[in-house]
Formats: sequence, structure tokens, C-alpha cells
Amino acid sequence: MYQYDQFDHAMVAARNAEFKDQVARRLSGELSEDQFKPLRLMNGLYLQLHAYMLRIAVPYGVLSSRQMRTFAHIARTYDRDFGHFTTRQNIQFNWIKLADTPQILEELAAVEMHAIQTSGNCIRNTTTDQFAGAAKDELDDPRPWAELIRQWSTFHPEFTFLPRKFKIAITGATRDRAAIRVHDIGLQLTANGFDVYVGGGMGRTPHLGHLIKSGVPGEKLLSYLEAALRVYNRYGRRDNIYKARIKILVSALGPQEYARQVEEEWATLDQAQIDAPHAEIARIKSFFPQPNYADKAFDAAAIERAKAADPGFARWMRNNTLAHRRDDHVSVTISLKPTGMPPGDASSAQMDAMADAADAFGYGELRVSHEQNVILPHVAKADLYELYRQLDQNGLSSANVGKITDMIACPGLDYCSLANARAIPLAQDISNRFADEGLTDKIGDLQIKISGCINACGHHHVGHIGILGVDKQGEEFYQILLGGRADEKAALGVITGKGLSAEAVPAALERLVNLYLELRTDETERFIDTVGRLGREAFAGALHEPA
Ligand code: HEM
Ligand code: SF4
Repeated sequence: MYQYDQFDHAMVAARNAEFKDQVARRLSGELSEDQFKPLRLMNGLYLQLHAYMLRIAVPYGVLSSRQMRTFAHIARTYDRDFGHFTTRQNIQFNWIKLADTPQILEELAAVEMHAIQTSGNCIRNTTTDQFAGAAKDELDDPRPWAELIRQWSTFHPEFTFLPRKFKIAITGATRDRAAIRVHDIGLQLTANGFDVYVGGGMGRTPHLGHLIKSGVPGEKLLSYLEAALRVYNRYGRRDNIYKARIKILVSALGPQEYARQVEEEWATLDQAQIDAPHAEIARIKSFFPQPNYADKAFDAAAIERAKAADPGFARWMRNNTLAHRRDDHVSVTISLKPTGMPPGDASSAQMDAMADAADAFGYGELRVSHEQNVILPHVAKADLYELYRQLDQNGLSSANVGKITDMIACPGLDYCSLANARAIPLAQDISNRFADEGLTDKIGDLQIKISGCINACGHHHVGHIGILGVDKQGEEFYQILLGGRADEKAALGVITGKGLSAEAVPAALERLVNLYLELRTDETERFIDTVGRLGREAFAGALHEPA
């Protein structure tokens, strides 16, 4: 993985020293909370309903075991013994004391991490495929490009005060696991360079990104992005926070006109000054070699025997492993969605256990996924059963990846001051309702995504089933959306039926799922495909109790 150079170390250290001074002035009362707010937000420190929350960037979701252990240490020492992995491949600590933040940031800097640009109207952490560099269906590794964008965008003098926050995602595989069409800019790496999608996003006005240019060569990527951002920075609306995202500009201008303006801007730029020289791209790529793969012979018959003897292992193999570019390896997803628990949370002991598993079986490397799970991208098949048993001992062997209980949920009313409704307790109720593993497997791939308000942090627009918390005369209600998806066939879900109370949601989902099981052609037709074939309305009735 990428390693900081002198410049990176000095930059983070200088920022930490500056923030330490700002914290001291806040603690002494010299700065009011209002004066302090913009300063803390530049360092990823939010104030939620009950406490400060620190959001730490995990660049493009890549973590070393050492970094994961630092998270465990922070959770244990400064928080309530857990951390929360987010939908943008970051981690959040929800119960941080202001006085501890300088020390936490110092400890993070020691493992080459920081919280800069995890808030504010700047370019945020670029996200990518959690299986980058490992997946069999990958054309090219997106991580070096994500790192290039990170270096270009960090403290970019022109883009520190954009009309609104800005999120970029890249994928290099045929299957889009990075949700590129719901990002401000989504990049698809192809054999001919980058396809550039602009203007996707969720929030109160969801849009899918438009393809504005195909085949931008890697060596020209930064200047093209610079042109795209410049047009947005100049013409994006600053008069209305709800209309400030690039999706609004692109839809007001029309994608073609926006693309034309970007092209025009691109032509005026001194591209050679902006684009990274070939040697720099090669230098960055050199940080992302394939691991030194262990040539461990694996005995396919032994794996079959272990599966037959241990049905939990068989199920985990089926649901939590993905084909690797090497036949003797797989990628493993560690589900952070055990039955009845808040999605994306991990205790310090579990973080340590994941780091240990990465060291023992995964070349010391981990990833965070936007589905709020943790991945070991490279695991030798010969080690799978041992790994499974180790994870199982630490409560990390839930075998529900991609299933109805592998939900995304935002913090909602438990933490967030903008929330209309709770999201985590509802996710827990749904998880308990569908605890039966046989049933979950029978239902197959089904993604539920829950947001506690219209800001859509929980991606409800692109859930196969989306759940949106609303406030109805002081009461929490939930609207159900059907038909959304965030993959290469991205689509926005549509509100279906009437709003439901929290108590009514799990039973409504059960009726919905039962109807799907009745209507599907066979078990290969996924929920989302049956909804596509028959239309949402065919399912609306099931959401409500029969009269
Ligand atoms: C104090 C807690 C939080 C606050 C106040 C907050 C606020 C917001 C707001 C206002 C938006 C809408 C922005 C817009 O459309 O312009 C938004 C979007 C979003 N937030 Fe949060 N958020 C919080 C926590 C989180 C957490 C914990 C996650 C991840 C689990 C998250 C992930 C996202 C994502 C993915 C979006 C995407 C919507 C988009 O890009 O259009 N947020 N958030
Ligand atoms: S969707 Fe709403 S409730 Fe959930 S974290 Fe975002 S702003 Fe808060």
C-alpha cells in the first residue's frame, strides 16, 4: 500500500499541531463553539446529538493490520470500545472527548492516517472497489489512480471551498461495487482509459451520473478532473444549500452542455503542469504490487470434507468469498452485520481479531466496503477453514454477505442531529426478524438500505428495498422504496405504498419477501429482477396489512 513520504508526514504533523492549538483555545474558552466549528470540521470532528464524532479517512478503503490495531486502540482508550465503519469506506468514533482529539490524531499520524477532508465542501475520500487488485473480474487496479487523486485533491488550493462537498468513486472491474453512478464523479476504468460519469448523488434530489466523456487517458486524468471541478466551482449554486451539489448544475445545464464546458475549460488549462508525469504514475503504481503469494497447495477434497462436517463453514464459503485473480486464493468478506447488531460496528477486540486474521492469513491487508463490512482481499484457499474458525471465535463469522440482513443503515436518530427517525434500531429489528439462516439463503441477494432522513446517508435510494425515515407530526414513520440498485445497472428506487410505523416495517418486509418468493420464476431470479419484471406496483399491496 501507499507509504507517506517526507512531505506527507510533514503536512499531517503541521496540521495536527495547528489543530492542537485550536483545541486548547476552545477548551480555555478563548474560542466559542461557533468559532471553533469550521476549524474542527476541517479536521473531521463533528458534533452529533450527544458527543463529538471523529471521522477518519481510510483512503480508498485500504487498511494495514497495523492501522486496524490503531483503530482498536482508539476505540478502547478514547471511545466506548467500538468504532463504526461507514458507507464511504471511512471509520467514525462516536463518543470522543474534545480534549483527547490531538492525541488521537497524533497516534493516527504515526500509522499514516488523518481526518483531513472528511468533512466540509471539499473533495472527500475517493472510494473504490473493496476487491481492487484481487477480483477476478477486474480489468485494471483502481487503487493507484485513487491515490493519485488523493494527492491531487488534498489541500488543492482551488477546491477547498467548493459550493458543496464532492465525492469521487472509481471502479476497474466489470461489476460496479463502488456505486460510481451515485457519486459526484464516477470513474470507470476501461481498456481505453476512463469513462467519466458526472452528476450522480443521493440526498433529497437523487440523480444518476451521466457519461460525459469516454476514454480519458490515465496520464490526462487529473487535468480532466480539474476542468470538471473548475466548471462546477464557478457555476455551481452557492445561494441554496439544497441546490449546491454538482448534480443540480449538470441537470440544469444538461449533461451535453456541461460536458462541452468542461472540454472548453480543459483546452485552456496548462495540462502538462497539472497531469502527473509518467514517472510519478509509475512511482505510485509501485506501491500497489501483488502480495508475495504463498504457494500453499490446497486440497479441494479437504475443503469439501470440512464443508460437509461444518455447515456454518459451508454457508460462509458460499456467501462470504469471492473469486480471486489467482485460482488458489479467494477474497473474504467479514460481515459486520451479526444478527440484531448495529450495521458496521466493530468492537476493539474484533478490530484486533481482524488485524490478527489479516496478519495470519491475508498478507497484513484489509479493506473497508461501502456496505460497511471488512474484507481480506487475498486469502489462500488452503487457509480458509482455519481463518473461518478464528473469525468464528470472535463473533465475526456471520455468513450473510449480500443477503437481506447485510443492511446499510445511517446513524439516524441515535446520533445524528438532522435525523427524523431511528435507523439503527430498525435495522436491528429487521435483522432479528430474518435471523433464520435457511430463510435468508432462500431469499438470496437482497439489499436493504436505511436512512434516518432525506439526506440519504444510508443510500435508501439505491437499496433493492430502501427505507426512508420521515417525521409525520412528531412521529417517526418510514417510507418504503422499491427497485433501486447501485451496481452497473444503477437505478433509483421509487416510494411505494404508504408510510409505515417502525413496528409495522419488519412484518411488511416479511409479506413483501413472501410475495417475491411466490412470484419469482425460480431461485435464480433475484428480488430486484422480479420487481423489474412485474413492476413495483405488484408489490405495493404486500406492504400493508390486509384489511
Ligand atoms: C452527524 C452525522 C451526520 C450528518 C450531520 C450528516 C449529514 C449529511 C448531509 C446533510 C448529507 C446530504 C448532503 C447533500 O446532499 O448535499 C449527507 C449525505 C451523505 N452522508 Fe451523511 N451525515 C452524517 C453521518 C453520516 C454517516 C455516519 C455516514 C456513513 C455511514 C454518512 C454518509 C453519507 C453519505 C454516503 C451521503 C451521501 C449522499 C450523497 O452523496 O448525495 N453520513 N450527510
Ligand atoms: S441520513 Fe439523515 S439521519 Fe441519517 S446520518 Fe444522514 S443526515 Fe443523519
